[in-house]
Amino acid sequence: MAFTVQDYYFRKAKKEHYLARAIYKLEEIQKRFKVLKAGDRVLDLGAAPGSWIQLAGGIVGGAGLVVGIDLKPIQHDFPKYVITLEGDIFDPDFVQTALGDHVPFNVVLSDMAPSTSGNKVADSARSALLFERAFEVALWALAPGGAFVAKLFHGSDFHRLLAEVKKKFAQTRVVRPEATRKQSKEIYILAMKKKT
Ligand SMILES: C[S@@+](CC[C@H](N)C(=O)[O-])C[C@H]1O[C@@H](n2cnc3c(N)ncnc32)[C@H](O)[C@@H]1O
Repeated sequence: MAFTVQDYYFRKAKKEHYLARAIYKLEEIQKRFKVLKAGDRVLDLGAAPGSWIQLAGGIVGGAGLVVGIDLKPIQHDFPKYVITLEGDIFDPDFVQTALGDHVPFNVVLSDMAPSTSGNKVADSARSALLFERAFEVALWALAPGGAFVAKLFHGSDFHRLLAEVKKKFAQTRVVRPEATRKQSKEIYILAMKKKT
């Protein structure tokens, strides 16, 4: 029986003790674009179960900080320089209270995804709302020069959102990592060098 890409990365993550196969998407982005650096302060939106935190934490190390936020609790034991918070990124009071003491960040990551319904148009519209909210939080929370990496289900909002991001960052790329499931519409917009 042939293994799908999904099986392959799922098994690899289990074998390498990572919390989710999603780690290989950020790993590829990191290998290609060196978004994360030792000592960086990183905000990870939609962070559960925590594989991006594992990767980011290992790179930034004790001189840095990783704050992971998700609707679901993040249950893994991370080092002291990792903070995990349960909450909804659309709740402005939560965002202000949770992040007010930690801004500015060097990198804002968002792997947020809606629970999918199977209706591609509805799912991509909900993904676009998550992307827009992540972008809004990133513009508030990022230091000048900072980087933003966020997932988006490719759909009718794609060109509009990419144009918005381009206005605020000096460099942008659209990435579809190899670990992405074949049938998935997801891509990542990578934006570097936030303008002042
Ligand atoms: C694909 S998973 C993230 C996987 C994660 N990057 C990892 O490596 O373990 C997407 C996450 O987005 C979260 N999410 C969706 N909507 C959210 C919201 N409004 N606020 C916070 N998190 C949200 C979901 O709860 C889910 O855990």
